[in-house]
Amino acid sequence: MKLATRDLLTVADLTPREFGGLVSRSITMKKRGAGRPLAGRTLAMIFEKPSTRTRASFEAGMHQLGGHAISLSSQETQLSRGESIEDTARTLSRYSDCIMARLYKHEHVERLAAASSVPVINGLTDSFHPCQTLADFMTIRERLGRMDGLKIAWLGDGNNVCSSLIQGAALAGSDVHVACPRSMRPDAGVVREASRSVRVRMTEDPAEAARGAHVVATDTHSSMHNKGVSRLSRLARYRVDARIMAGADPGAIFLHCLPATRGREVSADVIDGPQSAVWDEAENRLHTQKALLEALAGRPRAR
Ligand code: CP
Ligand code: NVA
Repeated sequence: MKLATRDLLTVADLTPREFGGLVSRSITMKKRGAGRPLAGRTLAMIFEKPSTRTRASFEAGMHQLGGHAISLSSQETQLSRGESIEDTARTLSRYSDCIMARLYKHEHVERLAAASSVPVINGLTDSFHPCQTLADFMTIRERLGRMDGLKIAWLGDGNNVCSSLIQGAALAGSDVHVACPRSMRPDAGVVREASRSVRVRMTEDPAEAARGAHVVATDTHSSMHNKGVSRLSRLARYRVDARIMAGADPGAIFLHCLPATRGREVSADVIDGPQSAVWDEAENRLHTQKALLEALAGRPRAR
């Protein structure tokens, strides 16, 4: 499918129609395969932070589409010795058809995209995780049959994954109820923008947010960019457990982007229980990334 945007830095780069179209294409690819539209194409990946799912699914996805992926830890590139983001972008643009980067500062992925002559995909920054959101809404559509008119509850840290989920919900047409400490609310600009199309509610009461929800989502209480131990005690009461799920809609699903710490942000009986969709959610990273790569890395070459 065609996307108006060249890069995917946040979910808000997509229109509602493009967001839904990528999810549909991902579901079709999962059912019927995708062929080899990226034969001869190369994806360059840069990682400043660890990754299991993002790295493995992008690499497997490129391979399945007939292309190739190069994975670079920032520590093994000249970025570690002070080469600029811009010079790195210019260089990688000459070898590859697309760049995926997992960086700390969101501003750095914006600089990478500005200097690159090929599409750039944000594989997670401190502020956003758009690829995760595509997989989350694919999972919601598979499990619940729709992405709109839902109540989505987020319990815990209002972090990068939460901000992207809110942006996705705004495109999909579903409401988001966030339960978190006041000091850990998601980005105010993201909430303001999403509130133009859907309801985004903030509360400090986890049971209230989850009541009647069709989707209950959470994430680690200790992100790669935000590991403070004092946060853990303040977040403890936002754990998703059986009591929280009992207050949600009877058909509710549980989502977690992973990696998870059982007993901290979610109890083992929930993440390993019948309402958990986390393994489909992890698998769907592969399918949504393939749909995204087909759209962005499969474009006619500019040179
Ligand atoms: N959910 C996710 O992005 O996982 P990784 O950190 O393992 O890539
Ligand atoms: N919020 C987490 C997500 C990990 C996939 C982090 O940024 O570490």
